[in-house]
Amino acid sequence: MIESRNDVIEQLKKLLTNKMVTDQQLVSLLSRVGYIKPGCDCSVFINLQASANPKIRTLALKNLAKTANYNYMSHYMQVLRSEDSSEVRKEAVSAIGRLRDPRTIDVMKYLLDDKDPEVVLQALRGLICFKKRDDIFSILLSMQSHSNEIIRSFIDKELNSSKDTGSKSDEVSSPDKLKNLVIEGDVARILDFIPDESIHLTFTSPPYYNARDYSIYQSYQEYLGFLEGIFKKIHRVTKEGRFFALNTSPIIIPRVSRQHSSIRYPIPFDIHPLLVDMGWEFIDDIVWVKPEASVKNRVAGFDMHRKPLAYKPNPRTEYVMVYRKKTHKLIDWNIRNYPYSTVAKSKVEGEYDTSNVWEIDPVYDRVHSAVFPFLLCEKVIRYYSYMGDLVFDPFGGSGTFAKAALSLNRYFITTEIHSDYVRRIKANLTQKDILQDTKDISFLNTESFQERMGEK
Ligand SMILES: C[S@@+](CC[C@H](N)C(=O)[O-])C[C@H]1O[C@@H](n2cnc3c(N)ncnc32)[C@H](O)[C@@H]1O
Repeated sequence: MIESRNDVIEQLKKLLTNKMVTDQQLVSLLSRVGYIKPGCDCSVFINLQASANPKIRTLALKNLAKTANYNYMSHYMQVLRSEDSSEVRKEAVSAIGRLRDPRTIDVMKYLLDDKDPEVVLQALRGLICFKKRDDIFSILLSMQSHSNEIIRSFIDKELNSSKDTGSKSDEVSSPDKLKNLVIEGDVARILDFIPDESIHLTFTSPPYYNARDYSIYQSYQEYLGFLEGIFKKIHRVTKEGRFFALNTSPIIIPRVSRQHSSIRYPIPFDIHPLLVDMGWEFIDDIVWVKPEASVKNRVAGFDMHRKPLAYKPNPRTEYVMVYRKKTHKLIDWNIRNYPYSTVAKSKVEGEYDTSNVWEIDPVYDRVHSAVFPFLLCEKVIRYYSYMGDLVFDPFGGSGTFAKAALSLNRYFITTEIHSDYVRRIKANLTQKDILQDTKDISFLNTESFQERMGEK
C-alpha cells in the first residue's frame, strides 16, 4: 500500500510519544515526509526543534518550510537567535526565503552581515526574487565585492546569466578552415590568427623547463611567463565552458656539483594559480601513473644509507590537470547544444576510468623524446569532447594527439616549432592503418596559415 504523506506526519507524532524512539527512526521518517497539504498541523516539526540532534532539527525545519506559511516566521527567527549549528541556521534562512514575502526583506538584509557565508548565501537566494526593486538590486550589486568567493560567484551568475552569447550552432561548430591542420611555427604567433571561441578542447604537454634540449629559457620565471602567455591565448580561442587538460609534472634539475643540491620545480602547482587567474576553472587532477621500472631511479642512494631527510622517492606520476573555461552556464548547457544523435554516438561506452588514477605505460619514440601514449590522448578526447569537435594541441611534438583525434572522429589543429618534429607528425598522420583518406589534412607554416585565415 502506498503510504500517504500525512500518514507519515501522524506516525511521527505517535513516535514522539514513545520515549524509546531513536534518532535514526526520526531521521528516516522526516526524510520521507514529501508534500505537505496546506492547513496541515505541523506542530510536530516545531516540537522537534528541541532535539539534541542537529540533523533532526534541520530536517524538521526543511519540512516546515514546505508550508511557505508566514505564521512560522517567528519560529524561524527564534531558531536563528538560539541556534549554534550552521546547518540548522542555514535551513532557517532558507525557510524564510521560501516565503517569498516582502515582510521578510528586512530580516534577509540584516542576515547579509552574518559571519557564516552559508547563511549569507541563503539570505541572498531569498532576496533574488525581489531583484526588480531598485533598492534590492543595489544591495545585490554591492555584494559583488564580498570577501567570500562563492558569494561573489553567486551574485555574478544571478546578475549576468541572462546575457547569452552566440547561437546554439555557434557553440558546437567550428570554422572549416581550422579543421585538420598541422602548422609549423611558434604557437604564440599562430594563436593570434585563430578566431575567438573556435576550439572545443585543448590537451597538451608543454616543453619542459631546461630538461630537454628543445626548451631553453633564461629563468624559471621566464618559462612560466611564456606558458602563461600561451594559455591566455588558448583561453580566448576556447569555446564557452569547454575544457583544457594540461599534462605536466614537477621536474628536477640536477645539481651543479657535489657542493650543491638538485632543484625540483613544482610546475603544475606554479602554473595552477596563473590558470585560475586568467579565467580557467579548476575541474580535476588526474594522476597518470607509470610502472616504477620505467622511471628514473632516484631512490638508489637512500636504499643504501636509509638516512631520514635524504629520502627521494622515484617519481612515477604526472598530472593531467583539467580546467574549464569559466562560465555561469552549467556543463548541461554545453551538452544540450549538441543534437541528440551526436550525444548518442559520442557516449563513452564500455569500460572507463572510475578514478582519477590512470595507469598507462609510457611510450618511446625514435624521433621525439617525450611523446604522449596514444591511450592517454584517447581517454582525454573521449571524456572531454564530442564527435565532430575541434581539438587542439599547441605543442604537437610527434602528433600523437592529432592522430588520436582523427581516429575518434574529431577534427584537430596542432602546432609545432621544430621541422624535424613536423616531419614526424606528417609520418604519423599519413600512416595507412590510421587514415582512410589523408587529403583532408593541411600542412602549413605560419605565413600560409595567416593567409588562409585572411589576415594577409
Ligand atoms: C613535451 S613536447 C610535446 C610532445 C607531444 N605531446 C607528443 O605526444 O609528441 C613539447 C613540444 O613543444 C614544442 N614547442 C616548444 N616551443 C614551442 C612553440 N613556441 N611553439 C610550438 N611548439 C613548441 C617542442 O618542439 C616539443 O616538440
